[in-house]
Amino acid sequence: MGSHFGLLNYFTCLIMLLYFPNFVVSGKPQVPCYFIFGDSLFDTGNNNQLDTKWKANYPPYGIDFPKGHTGRFTNGRTAADIIGQNLGFDGFIPTYVTATDDQISKGVNYASGGAGILDRTGFHNGDRFSFHQQIVHHNSTVSRISRIQKNTTFLKECIYVVNIGMSDYIYNYYYWTGFDRIYNSSLLYSKINYATILIIQYYRQLKALYNLGGRKFALFGLAQLGCTPFIVKSWSAVGKPCSVLVNDAEYVFNNRLKTLVDGLNKLKPDARFTFINTTSILQKKEGAPVTPPSLPIPTKKKKLPDYNKYKARPCCPVTDDWQCILNSTPCATRTSSTYFDTVHPTEPNNIAIATRSYKALLPTDVYPYDIHRLTQVKL
Ligand SMILES: *[C@@H]1O[C@H](CO)[C@@H](O)[C@H](O)[C@H]1NC(C)=O
Ligand SMILES: *[C@@H]1O[C@H](CO)[C@@H](O)[C@H](O)[C@H]1NC(C)=O
Ligand SMILES: *[C@@H]1O[C@H](CO)[C@@H](O)[C@H](O)[C@H]1NC(C)=O
Ligand SMILES: *[C@@H]1O[C@H](CO)[C@@H](O)[C@H](O)[C@H]1NC(C)=O
Repeated sequence: MGSHFGLLNYFTCLIMLLYFPNFVVSGKPQVPCYFIFGDSLFDTGNNNQLDTKWKANYPPYGIDFPKGHTGRFTNGRTAADIIGQNLGFDGFIPTYVTATDDQISKGVNYASGGAGILDRTGFHNGDRFSFHQQIVHHNSTVSRISRIQKNTTFLKECIYVVNIGMSDYIYNYYYWTGFDRIYNSSLLYSKINYATILIIQYYRQLKALYNLGGRKFALFGLAQLGCTPFIVKSWSAVGKPCSVLVNDAEYVFNNRLKTLVDGLNKLKPDARFTFINTTSILQKKEGAPVTPPSLPIPTKKKKLPDYNKYKARPCCPVTDDWQCILNSTPCATRTSSTYFDTVHPTEPNNIAIATRSYKALLPTDVYPYDIHRLTQVKL
């Protein structure tokens, strides 16, 4: 009898491990704290109280998240959530807008939907905390921590993740409404010059985070922006999987970001920066296009954008812009869908990004360290 139970428990554990590998926590986290910066890919609710269209705190967002809709721009966890679980944190890192004094020493999430490296990025949809504003917020967090703990030296052991730049392309450089350009960046700058401007600004912003005590940084490259249904619909011929135009611009940015990582590692020998190659992580065999998700359940309403003629389709029925329609029914098979709305990936993509940035699978996934290695570096 006892041995039967033992066997049963063994299988239960095995099944739990297979199905919920990210929920296994090993007691103490590997680092004392974990700070999260970025845009909607990492936002977990900082925008909820803002006067803005950059929000995802309503169903069907969060349909596969234990607490339902929280402000996460996806059906489940963000990649930053899953990295936090891999680092051994139980519970998710709180948003800046809700974090209490008891919580901040373990980390804060500053990410904000619509935010960019440039302050102006995303303004057409209302308020958001730009990367600059997120750094101002971090400055205030560090002051709070130093009031509570007196000594902030432990910040150098912590992991800082930054996922920013997507909006500077989608909601600035390549943003058109009808025939109007709301942003003039694409008139003023070539693709190359624009990437240079972004990277110079990014460099200054990272230096500010360094000056606030950060020493271990993972910087996420842009992932196939040209393949998002939002961009495919506005920039590419029907039937093509991706917009080459936008992917080319992203390629320039990612290469510059990798060069910046090299430069910063030389300039600041007491810190470590790493580049996460999301293109490598999300790449399908032989550069095949992303898997088209199953079609959204048709609704009676008319005038919805028709994504059926495009190869990359959102999982939920969407507004004219990019968002899931409130209370709409998303596709049933979210595990085989790439995009939840027209911009944001579904949780399986986030799992891939988190898993392989934490422990690289291919040599091209990270440069030069994965996040697990970053936790071990002695500074
Ligand atoms: C802060 O703590 C570190 C070790 O954690 C120690 O080396 C350093 O001297 C402390 N600084 C102050 C000002 O107490
Ligand atoms: C571009 O737009 C910004 C913000 O509205 C404005 O300050 C700037 O003068 C514009 N530049 C040109 C050349 O139109
Ligand atoms: C943080 O805030 C203080 C006080 O406002 C300011 O003097 C300092 O320059 C800020 N640091 C950074 C890195 O922004
Ligand atoms: C990212 O990885 C891909 C291979 O999957 C490679 O072609 C590309 O050059 C890498 N990007 C950078 C910036 O190293």
